[in-house]
Amino acid sequence: MTEAHPDEALRATLRWYADMGLDDVIGASPSDFSTWQNRGPVSAPQMQRKAPAPPSTMTNMSATQRPSNNARQTPAPVSGLDAPLPTDEAVARAQALAGGCESLAALRSAIQGFDGCPLKPGARNTVIDDGIEGAPLMVLGEAPGRDEDRIGKPFVGRAGQLLDRMLAAIGHSRFEDEMEAAYISNSIFWRPPGNRTPTRAEVAICLPFVLRLIELAQPKVLILVGNTPTQALFDSVPGITRARGLWRAHETSAGQVIPALPMFHPAFLLRQPLQKRLAWADLIEVRKKLKDA
Ligand code: URA
Repeated sequence: MTEAHPDEALRATLRWYADMGLDDVIGASPSDFSTWQNRGPVSAPQMQRKAPAPPSTMTNMSATQRPSNNARQTPAPVSGLDAPLPTDEAVARAQALAGGCESLAALRSAIQGFDGCPLKPGARNTVIDDGIEGAPLMVLGEAPGRDEDRIGKPFVGRAGQLLDRMLAAIGHSRFEDEMEAAYISNSIFWRPPGNRTPTRAEVAICLPFVLRLIELAQPKVLILVGNTPTQALFDSVPGITRARGLWRAHETSAGQVIPALPMFHPAFLLRQPLQKRLAWADLIEVRKKLKDA
């Protein structure tokens, strides 16, 4: 009997891994999970919006002195595969970089060059935005999935196709076409392994860039799809089932107040098609708000 060539054995092992669903790179180097300790909840740096305290001040505050935020008190989703803990310095670096960008183009290069997010080494692409700059409508999603990571653009998979149809239903499109313009981005710029929910720490690190993106894009109306963008922009929000359909006001650090509507995420609507009627009601609200803007 002839022995299999080593390459063929390796290929067979990889095929077997892929068949078992192990098709994600989750780190730059191998790790022996059997030696991992349970790290407990992630102690994320505070999500910082307007006028954030310098990281050293935050670090020195006692728990009772810190700004209260229900979302922050909930333990972050912790999987055994959590990336290394982010630091306040990563948030501070993101703030400094984002604050120094005066255009979307400059901001894109700053995000591309930023190495402070622990998701970056496991992602193929940095996924930032798509659509028309200066559009009156901006959609903020959660994080890139598999297709977005492969292609490098937000919302290009099945959920993205549904999002495009939802926007078209109110006469908007991210493409150069006859419709009104739309602009699309996410709360996180790198794919979380296995499409898990981003941790609060990962959201906090990307947030300064997201806030600057909104500030520079200057939309008239924001749609926040799902829990992640809603909780990234607003303190003390309930889950999306209760938050959806209720207008909130996002104020940029330049003082622009932008009406923001939390809605169900299109990926959720693909799984729960009956909820599309609520999404439709929300879209009609968005259309009305854009008319008045
Ligand atoms: N889901 C998101 O929230 N964003 C994407 O870009 C793709 C899927």
